[in-house]
Amino acid sequence: MTFANTQATVYNDKVVRQFAIMTIVWGVVGMLVGVIIAAQLAWPELNFGIPWLSYGRLRPLHTNAVIFAFGGSGLIGTSYYVVQRTCQVRLFSDKLAAFTFWGWQLVIVAAAISLPLGYTTSKEYAELEWPIDVLITLVWVAYAVVFFGTVGTRRVRHIYVANWFYGGFILAIALLHVVNSAELPVGLMKSYSAYAGVQDAMVQWWYGHNAVGFFLTAGFLGMMYYFIPKQAERPVYSYRLSIVHFWALIFTYMWAGPHHLHYTALPDWTQSVGMVFSLILLA
Ligand code: HEM
Repeated sequence: MTFANTQATVYNDKVVRQFAIMTIVWGVVGMLVGVIIAAQLAWPELNFGIPWLSYGRLRPLHTNAVIFAFGGSGLIGTSYYVVQRTCQVRLFSDKLAAFTFWGWQLVIVAAAISLPLGYTTSKEYAELEWPIDVLITLVWVAYAVVFFGTVGTRRVRHIYVANWFYGGFILAIALLHVVNSAELPVGLMKSYSAYAGVQDAMVQWWYGHNAVGFFLTAGFLGMMYYFIPKQAERPVYSYRLSIVHFWALIFTYMWAGPHHLHYTALPDWTQSVGMVFSLILLA
């Protein structure tokens, strides 16, 4: 698909550059922590008996750093790059975009300090305590406003498929984060989940499964749908199929979470729904 840029538009590439630099920085940090915990699996004494360096605290630091710091910075930065070019308009708000950059970095620094100190909700991929959850929500809402505001003020009629994937990613992550992080604060860095027992487990794995589906899959597919055709200097092979791909992925992914809870106290029918949808997703 080609677009004629009739009016010269000055894009906001400053925030894109900032996110790109931090993607590299957090990639190095996150994978270094990965190497350290991998070494600890072979040589447990590498924690030197220091609680902050123990495997149990560094493992969530690794997953949070590679997924949310490295992956997140890459996703937000590229979405800003792509949405401006495919909509032929500058970002909706420079100030809000800057807030998303600094806010996201603050979330990451808060994670890098609180996780080694042992503050955790114990929910995988959602370990951060409630004040950081609140900050994530604020940043994410600002991100949604910048992204959808830009799509809303676009100069081309069509919304390119990459933006559908980025948009799906933004909406789904907002929903997952808010629902799974519902918790009762009992101290500055201590909270209890709003859910109990098997419901808590189900909400957690609905979240955990879809965090992979929408953060690590849908978002990155948005990136691919722009940069691969661009590098190849060819349009998407079948644009119609790319739309089928979008709806099939987002519809099916949402229901497969129970496969993380097979042979548990989760009701059988729920496990069966998760199993069937996982097979559909595979197919
Ligand atoms: C130098 C590169 C990396 C190394 C050495 C590394 C190492 C590790 C180790 C040792 C674990 C823990 C395994 C266990 O507990 O049994 C782990 C878990 C994990 N890593 Fe990495 N990692 C690297 C890069 C990445 C990247 C780039 C990502 C994603 C963007 C990633 C995502 C994850 C996830 C999601 C888990 C948790 C898996 C699970 O619970 O099933 N890692 N990594």
